[in-house]
Amino acid sequence: MTPEPENRETLTITDNRNGKSYEVPIENGTIKAPDLRKIKTGPEDFGIMTYDPAYMNTASCKSTITFIDGDKGILEYRGYPIAELAEKTSFLETAWLILNGELPTKEQYKAWVDEITVHTMVHENITSVLQSFRYDAHPMAMLASSVAALSTFYPEAKQVHDPEVRRMQIVRLIAKTPTLAAFAYRHSIGFPFAYPDNDLSFAGNFLQMMYRTAEPKYTPNPILEKALDVLFILHADHEQNCSTSAMRAVGSSEVDPYCAASAAVSALYGPLHGGANEAVLRMLKGIGSKDHVPAFVKDVKESGGDVKLMGFGHRVYKNYDPRAKILKQMADQVFGVTGRNPLLDIALELERIALEDDYFIKRKLYPNVDFYSGLIYQAMKFPVDMFPVLFAIGRMAGWLAQWNEMIQDKDQKIARPRQVYLGYRDRSFVPFDRRG
Ligand code: SDX
Repeated sequence: MTPEPENRETLTITDNRNGKSYEVPIENGTIKAPDLRKIKTGPEDFGIMTYDPAYMNTASCKSTITFIDGDKGILEYRGYPIAELAEKTSFLETAWLILNGELPTKEQYKAWVDEITVHTMVHENITSVLQSFRYDAHPMAMLASSVAALSTFYPEAKQVHDPEVRRMQIVRLIAKTPTLAAFAYRHSIGFPFAYPDNDLSFAGNFLQMMYRTAEPKYTPNPILEKALDVLFILHADHEQNCSTSAMRAVGSSEVDPYCAASAAVSALYGPLHGGANEAVLRMLKGIGSKDHVPAFVKDVKESGGDVKLMGFGHRVYKNYDPRAKILKQMADQVFGVTGRNPLLDIALELERIALEDDYFIKRKLYPNVDFYSGLIYQAMKFPVDMFPVLFAIGRMAGWLAQWNEMIQDKDQKIARPRQVYLGYRDRSFVPFDRRG
């Protein structure tokens, strides 16, 4: 017997233009947009589409990688809470989890670390690509370019439906992104490239490639090495953010993952996304002192949205970003080694005032991952323009896991949204002498 309408997992839609009713199935709290196309006023009618600029309320995929509850401030990778992963795992362990769905066994983890370690080198020709940039080239643009350049060295990467080919490119990208990042920095300061040291950890080797000078063997500070590893974990994935959506959309054309990852790096570069940690530091430096915080907050509130409190707000989190909470706690450990960052006082005052101010409370604006990460990066002597590059090193694991999931998802095909066309139609040509 068919259950009463109120018990069926469907929507009943009445088209008030002609009184017709339609029943649309509900699955996982969604309706399939193509199911709306049957709602027509006649045979010529294309049918109803959804209109959702910036995809504010549109799921682009099904995924089992990262879960976020924005209201409760929950973030889980494959079901494991971020705080537990940050405390108890290494970045490469978490990267394995994100990519494979389970925490690695001891044997899997050792083999994984060994495989990443021996793939940190890049083809020497890549150094010419990096050397071709001006000294003041932004390292994010250098990273986007050099990641795409990698595709020219691994033509087999185009075989995106071969699981072993995909796995090999995933290893190469996770292993080589820190090398490209460090090389971009060394180019910007006119230092020779410091090649990978296989005796060091993933984070330790990155610090070595960044900061080794004349010493024959670089020894990373263990507290900073651990802090950087945790930062990579916190940035590893974040479901369908802007750069991951770029990775999925570009990857849906079946281009190789190097070119798709280059698009993701480019999306992350934007100041509203991964470039926000760099913008937070510039904002704090611009404020200059705690005493100037009230005036700055007033400017933000009166700017009509033109001046933003960088590092605040989030499309999903309408509560405190759990990653910001972890970073705020971790800052003290780092400052214990590096000395307290004077900008922290300004940041804490900004947070204190914002969390009490109705303008921010009403808009549910809380500190996000970028608000504190920049302070820690700066204390660790990373230049400000390297902050989004550090974000990209961690996020590479998430981009690749999401890309890998998309390639295997039978629901997916090349991304090609529709539009609402409001322009002219069928116009006659106008010769030059009759224009204007
Ligand atoms: C990341 O998506 C992800 O998961 C991203 C990320 C990840 O891990 O991948 O978490 C990483 O990108 C974190 C976000 C870093 N960006 C910033 O910190 C830049 C500052 N934040 C804002 O630009 C903004 O909050 C966004 C872009 C993060 C979110 O923008 P939304 O969801 O589109 O919200 P909105 O712009 O529609 O803002 C709603 C209201 C507006 O005011 P009204 O028009 O209602 O009056 O809130 C205001 C906005 O003007 N607002 C802010 C603000 N953010 C939003 N006002 C002041 N300061 C801000 N930071």
